[in-house]
Amino acid sequence: MNFTNKTILITGASSGIGKEFATQLASKGANLIITARSEHELNALSQQLTTRHNNIWVKVIPLDLLLPDSPKTLFAAIQDMGLSVDYLINNAGFGKFCHFEEASFNTYQNMLTLNIHALTELCYLFLPTMKQTNSGGIINVASIGSFQPLPYQAVYGASKAFVLNFSEALTGELLGSQVKVM
Ligand SMILES: NC(=O)c1ccc[n+]([C@@H]2O[C@H](COP(=O)([O-])OP(=O)(O)OC[C@H]3O[C@@H](n4cnc5c(N)ncnc54)[C@H](OP(=O)(O)O)[C@@H]3O)[C@@H](O)[C@H]2O)c1
Repeated sequence: MNFTNKTILITGASSGIGKEFATQLASKGANLIITARSEHELNALSQQLTTRHNNIWVKVIPLDLLLPDSPKTLFAAIQDMGLSVDYLINNAGFGKFCHFEEASFNTYQNMLTLNIHALTELCYLFLPTMKQTNSGGIINVASIGSFQPLPYQAVYGASKAFVLNFSEALTGELLGSQVKVM
């Protein structure tokens, strides 16, 4: 795939897998919109990548995806910048390893909001333009835990099963289209 001059939105880009997506895609000539809560880490990454690659730009949008309006806020902020997203990488997510009843229920509410709700709403917001232009796509970061129940990560595993199932269903709806969901 050719990512030169493509605009790629990455959630959870301040660390881990999201940061690695940003680093590798920048080296392939992609322009990036990076988001997470940690503004300092995002700005440092933006600085690092634009210094290393003078042919790209990186926009930073600090945001807490647990806030109910955040997916819409992110979408509107990108529109206000006059940008259009070619690829969306829904990477922000988290889990917890313990007996089911040992974590607070609030932890599970947040896990479901981030891993499922925000991811689904971002697909809902960004997919229509991709379908109109018949190009681009979405990567939803699931987990090996998507494939079987996960004792001690029961809610996390179930949330990632949603991500896999939902993404494969969209892939089915897009058969015959140039828009790809994985
Ligand atoms: N690491 C693994 O072994 C593994 C395996 C399978 C799947 N995964 C999946 O891969 C994805 C990335 O995981 P990782 O291991 O790279 O974890 P990580 O290093 O903890 O990164 C998670 C990212 O999500 C962001 N994030 C967390 N809560 C957020 C919120 N409320 N609003 C906006 N952004 C938020 C974090 O940034 P801030 O804290 O700055 O907001 C961070 O950038 C997750 O979906 C995870 O489930 C990971």
